[in-house]
Amino acid sequence: MRKLPDASVPRVTATGSFDCVNASLRETFTSLWMTWRRRRAKPTSLASLGMAIGNESRFARLSAMPNNPVLVVHGGAWAMPDDMVEAHINGVRNALAAGWRVLERGGTALDAVEESVVIMEDDETFDAGRGSFLNRDGKVQLDALIMDGGTLRAGGVGCVERVRNPVRAARKILSESPHVYFVAEGAERFAEEHGLELCRNEDLVIPREVERLREYQAKTPTSRAEGAREMGHPSGSAQDGNDLFAPAVHDAAISHDTVGAVALDREGNIAAATSTGGTLNKAPGRLGDSSLIGCGCYADNLSAAVSTTGWGEPIMKLVLAKWTADRIVAGNLPEWAAQEAMNYLKQRLKGHGGIIVLNAQGQVGIAHNTPRMAWALKTVQKEDAGIERGQ
Ligand code: GLY
Repeated sequence: MRKLPDASVPRVTATGSFDCVNASLRETFTSLWMTWRRRRAKPTSLASLGMAIGNESRFARLSAMPNNPVLVVHGGAWAMPDDMVEAHINGVRNALAAGWRVLERGGTALDAVEESVVIMEDDETFDAGRGSFLNRDGKVQLDALIMDGGTLRAGGVGCVERVRNPVRAARKILSESPHVYFVAEGAERFAEEHGLELCRNEDLVIPREVERLREYQAKTPTSRAEGAREMGHPSGSAQDGNDLFAPAVHDAAISHDTVGAVALDREGNIAAATSTGGTLNKAPGRLGDSSLIGCGCYADNLSAAVSTTGWGEPIMKLVLAKWTADRIVAGNLPEWAAQEAMNYLKQRLKGHGGIIVLNAQGQVGIAHNTPRMAWALKTVQKEDAGIERGQ
């Protein structure tokens, strides 16, 4: 497969300038962009206040300076029991450290989100990579997406069974394919042809998940019918796995640990990545939101980088990551947009989950409508992690 040089794609920077247009057009565009941003900003933080109250030349000066990198990761939104908190906090902190190593040496946001997600795919705590939920047939089936906000290039894989790190396969697609999305055996073949070693599906399955599936299937169909009725399905029959995300049937043994990361690099580019094993007992071939562009993952320098977690079917019906990014373009802060996305998810479709949002000015939003969500955040000034937003 022919490799696509990054330079072949127009790149949009944090200030809104395109590399591939001439200088005067760039100047006009940048001036319009800055004026528009200044008018629409609704600052609450000191940093955003500085940008919003400054005159245009002050804004231009700030934008021309090297950006301070920002990295945010999540490790799933669900009713995490107390005895699993430490593992989740450690996991997201490790992911943060890996991504930050890339950013602090001047690496790209794209590389940073990839490295962060790889750490969580390798950590059996999370529903991504090895240790993921099993589908109805007792197999691990993985989905992932990675997206570059500077170029809008993206790579996604769905339903892969023999790829240890699906986000690496997704990255290969982004960097080395004219296509955006590969599924199942075709995705595995692409990964292998581009240097990734395939594993056996059994290598991704751990005893904890075999037992979890056995217990769940022993309870089925009763628990599934109950879950469906709680959610207003008159027939009492839910789609596989959906009932697991309904609040009335929250089970401490069932995690919703999709993982994700969003980053801003020194060049002012943002990126996002999301990876998941999907839902417990899902039908073979079922795809969730995580690997679908604009649903579980999205990145555009002109709006935001977004990664979601939670019950995939409602999230994809609402195209939630893009919905959230559009709120940023409309002039809202990531913090507000993240919270609003969770309200929208719950009110519109009784959906449950969490979200992380980052714009190209380094402003962050983290929200969830589940009892807990593992998250971690790092800037040059501070590092923080928690299992509830607001800690
Ligand atoms: N959000 C993960 C899934 O539903 O597959």
